[in-house]
Amino acid sequence: MLALVSAMQEELSAVLALMPDERRERVAGREFWVGHLHGQPVVAVLSRIGKVAAATTATVLAEHFGVRQLVFTGVAGGLGAQVRRGDVVVARRFVQHDLDASPLFPRYEVPLYGQAMFPTDAALTERLVRAARRALPGAGQHEGLILSGDQFIDSASEAMALQLAFPDALAVEMEGAAVAQVCHDYGIAYAAVRTISDRADDEAHGDFVSFIDQVASRHTAAIVEALLAAWP
Ligand code: ADE
Repeated sequence: MLALVSAMQEELSAVLALMPDERRERVAGREFWVGHLHGQPVVAVLSRIGKVAAATTATVLAEHFGVRQLVFTGVAGGLGAQVRRGDVVVARRFVQHDLDASPLFPRYEVPLYGQAMFPTDAALTERLVRAARRALPGAGQHEGLILSGDQFIDSASEAMALQLAFPDALAVEMEGAAVAQVCHDYGIAYAAVRTISDRADDEAHGDFVSFIDQVASRHTAAIVEALLAAWP
């Protein structure tokens, strides 16, 4: 079964509207919507915001629902110089930018995993790249590194510090790397797409709120629809 996960209500409601036969199941305080999309069995869930909430959600999807593929959709702050508001970023790899167990382990490395970067699944990511292009042909599209941390980045100085630490980072959000680690643990194929709501700068808060209200759910639904329409 395929899991569709979003952090925010605005995004999930658009996906649920595409599921004709969804039924609700409550686990770990979350509503999991089980049903079909384009004839494919799917479970859709709102993870809530932040790395721990996302990890709990991914763990329930693995243990209780036995999902083998997980697609995360949402919004992110743009970091790469060429990444603009409204652009689409598909993750190739994730890092937790707020993880620092030095001097015990190198900065950013997840202790006892021997790695800081967690790659996404190549095949599922290819499908998501193609779906995003079909769904939003006018939007700029990027593929690469996304950073995650338990912080909403809302100042140019914080954004610059992240750009200096990770020159190839395209975007920053608050869940993706945690889900990547859980999917790594369970051997679940993982892909993630984020629409850029803001530039993680001093205007980030206002930009984020207006984007979430007006654009995010339409973009998410369009990409999910395109992904499932072309499902093998
Ligand atoms: N998600 C969307 N915009 C973000 C930002 N600026 N920081 C963290 N997560 C975000």
